Amino acid sequence: MTGTTYRGALIGCGFFSHNHMNGWRDLPGAEIVAVCDRDEDRARAMAEKFGIAKAYADAGEMLAAETVDFVDIATTAASHRPLVELAVRHAKTVICQKPFAENLADAEAMVAAAQAAGASLIIHENFRWQKPFVDLKSMIDEGRIGVPHFARFSFRHGYDNYVNQPYLAEIERFTIMDVGLHLFDLARHFMGEAKRLSCTTQRLNPKVKGEDAFTSLIAHVSGATSVCDCSFQSVVEPDPFPRTVAWIEGPRGSLSLDAEGIIQLHTPGHLERIDAAPEIPAWGEAPWHFVQDSVIRFQEHAIEVMSGRIDGRPSGADNLHTLALALAAYEAAGNGITIDMTNWSET
Ligand SMILES: NC(=O)c1ccc[n+]([C@@H]2O[C@H](COP(=O)([O-])OP(=O)(O)OC[C@H]3O[C@@H](n4cnc5c(N)ncnc54)[C@H](O)[C@@H]3O)[C@@H](O)[C@H]2O)c1
Repeated sequence: MTGTTYRGALIGCGFFSHNHMNGWRDLPGAEIVAVCDRDEDRARAMAEKFGIAKAYADAGEMLAAETVDFVDIATTAASHRPLVELAVRHAKTVICQKPFAENLADAEAMVAAAQAAGASLIIHENFRWQKPFVDLKSMIDEGRIGVPHFARFSFRHGYDNYVNQPYLAEIERFTIMDVGLHLFDLARHFMGEAKRLSCTTQRLNPKVKGEDAFTSLIAHVSGATSVCDCSFQSVVEPDPFPRTVAWIEGPRGSLSLDAEGIIQLHTPGHLERIDAAPEIPAWGEAPWHFVQDSVIRFQEHAIEVMSGRIDGRPSGADNLHTLALALAAYEAAGNGITIDMTNWSET
């Protein structure tokens, strides 16, 4: 650490941003000095809860008045492009929640705007920062199973998510854009870039507008295969929400991850059990701590990006590939086709 404390502004004081604010409050190296929500009452309530001096209803007004090193955007996707284009003109580091954008053109415009302004654009993609996945990646990088040739990343539950995030029941593009992005990021993180993708979608709960389940098959450039599957309408006891389970195979062994954060390393004649569950943050609560802890890990990484030591993981430019997979998955499902990702473009 350099001893610097980076000054930040938060845009969007809704459901998930409370995790952002709890994380920033406890991290040396960063401090939120102003918050903004177009719903002024929400902005004021957030400022009061975390003892922040300034609350704004307009992001432009906030960034004209405040001097900040970073902007943390925790709004939903439709607002991201104008907010990122604004923020990169005022701060050297801009963090944008997933989904990065609703379409590739907007996402590419944001990457270009950040480049033109000389700002780092990081996507708040926290599944790869969840402790079990950090540990799995280390084990694979250490060569414990050899180079992986198969993976499955699975997020299936029946939790009533619509209480905290009511907009999820209303969006036409639901699980692929909400959780699929996270699973596709894991697939790329562990298995490399995708060559071909196919997908099926299902609408199991008649109360939601979009697909609430999907299954996607990815052929990677490396020759590896991965399956990403998700359902918000599964009967599982105890319900695993909001945790992801995984299975990764290599030539020398296999790794499994269950909903309790237990990793099992299978090697010939041997089974090793590793408890990779994270600590519950002082402000957190089980089972949300898998996500809450990942927010802290992501933010620690963002501070390193601010100090100029490393690029964002993932950066906006990197996340274009994940977004492309999600958008292509809708095309694959809609038309019953396999998509060649090497020359896919959004129509
Ligand atoms: N990474 C994760 O694990 C995770 C988990 C949950 C949600 N999310 C993502 O976080 C984002 C926010 O989700 P949420 O559930 O908190 O949504 P939310 O609707 O509860 O909160 C969004 C807030 O942004 C505000 N807002 C929107 N446009 C604005 C603008 N132009 N200026 C100022 N404020 C604006 C809204 O008034 C609202 O208060 C979504 O993109 C969602 O996908 C990520």
